[in-house]
Amino acid sequence: MSVTIVVGSQWGDEGKGKIVDLISQDADIVARYQGGANAGHTIVIDGKQYILHLIPSGILNPDCICVIGNGVVIDPIALQNEIEMLESHNISIRGRLFISHKAHLIMPYHKLLDQVREKDAKGNAIGTTGRGIGPAYFDKATRSGIRIVDLLDKERFEQKLRVNIEEKYNILNKIYGFEKIDIDSLVEEYLSFDTEIDDLITDTTLLLNTAIKENKKIVAEGAQGALLDIDHGTYPFVTSSNPISGGACTGLGIPPTAISKVIGIVKAYTTRVGNGPFPTELNDDTGEKLRKIGAEFGATTGRPRRCGWLDLVALKYSVMINGISEIALTKLDVLDEFEEIKLCTTYKYKGRSLKSFPVDMRTLDNLECDYVTVKGWKRTLHGTKNWADLPIEALNYFKIIEDTTGAEVKIASLSPDRADTLIK
Ligand code: GDP
Ligand code: IMO
Ligand code: MG
Repeated sequence: MSVTIVVGSQWGDEGKGKIVDLISQDADIVARYQGGANAGHTIVIDGKQYILHLIPSGILNPDCICVIGNGVVIDPIALQNEIEMLESHNISIRGRLFISHKAHLIMPYHKLLDQVREKDAKGNAIGTTGRGIGPAYFDKATRSGIRIVDLLDKERFEQKLRVNIEEKYNILNKIYGFEKIDIDSLVEEYLSFDTEIDDLITDTTLLLNTAIKENKKIVAEGAQGALLDIDHGTYPFVTSSNPISGGACTGLGIPPTAISKVIGIVKAYTTRVGNGPFPTELNDDTGEKLRKIGAEFGATTGRPRRCGWLDLVALKYSVMINGISEIALTKLDVLDEFEEIKLCTTYKYKGRSLKSFPVDMRTLDNLECDYVTVKGWKRTLHGTKNWADLPIEALNYFKIIEDTTGAEVKIASLSPDRADTLIK
């Protein structure tokens, strides 16, 4: 059993990119299992920053093979830009990046539909990234999606595209007044994309299952986070896929019996970008301080992230649904200057403590949080070399998290840089 799943435990942007890059230094394969270019995974090595949206965060390790699984929705423009960005840094992807022929394609009309729906929704907008994610998964679920494999047969691709465009542009043209687009040029654009990525496309299900049989080390990389999961997150303010660990099996075509470990990436406080409930949100100077020190601005859209204290109720729920046994706690250094740090321990609704993470939006929007307050460490963690050198206040913070969730804090991240990380 050789698959380790790395999952975001909160509302995304926990630092998955940094940790996946770190642990994939001795992995054979890193495979992304869901989401699309809505993700922004940041890796910093020796001060040099890379932001990845579709390509797995193992790509900076030259011996690591990277897989974009069937559960991912692929925007050719985003993928090409990313390949170019990596090649401009002399990072070669040829022969070590493989794309599932079952993955669905994001088309220009998906992005348009995503953006106009958001604009139209006004007060009810989700706050999506506008990358066409919802409409692409809509087509997948309604069985009209176009997959990578369809690019292999020009006639079939063109026929599918015509049917889709007819339907989509009925909405886009009649309701929103968009001009009809030129199907021929779209067909050419996607076929030229196919030529470029032709040698990367393969049966990744077979590739991964063969690697599992050979006992290779595989890291399954999730995008977004558990609370953005379409089934288990704060619906409807979620993304349109399953970021939770269970999504790795469907998103890669690997059996649950192959999974040996689930690592949860947990930011030492909480952030959320986009709309939706956020019980521990701080709309005050403290929230602003977290945003400023943590540089909490989206890696994909640049939007300011909403900030708040660590929410142990949500985290306990996340640990449960993901089966997290180990936690990588990131951005601890952001709390360096805080005299006191708070952690939410209980949700109260109408004066009563809740036993579990609520599902109803009316409850989620009207919760009161009980907090425990702990002393901050008030020193810079940056550059700490050993776990034992961490201040007692930080270790105490870990203990509260461990006692509440039952998962062990095994990795502590002290700055964006790969090197500034402690492993217990
Ligand atoms: P992801 O989507 O989960 O991969 O996370 P993002 O890359 O969107 O956001 C995490 C941000 O925090 C990035 O800018 C990282 O470079 C940065 N980061 C990661 N770990 C740490 C850390 O331990 N300390 C600090 N200060 N920044 C970190
Ligand atoms: P990474 O992988 C944080 C949020 C959007 C919005 C909701 C739905 O970098 O952690 P979508 O475009 O998916 O339809 O938007 O989900 N969202 C993310 N928030 N990190 C992400 O990815 C996100 N991907 C989507 O802001 O609230
Ligand atoms: Mg991100």
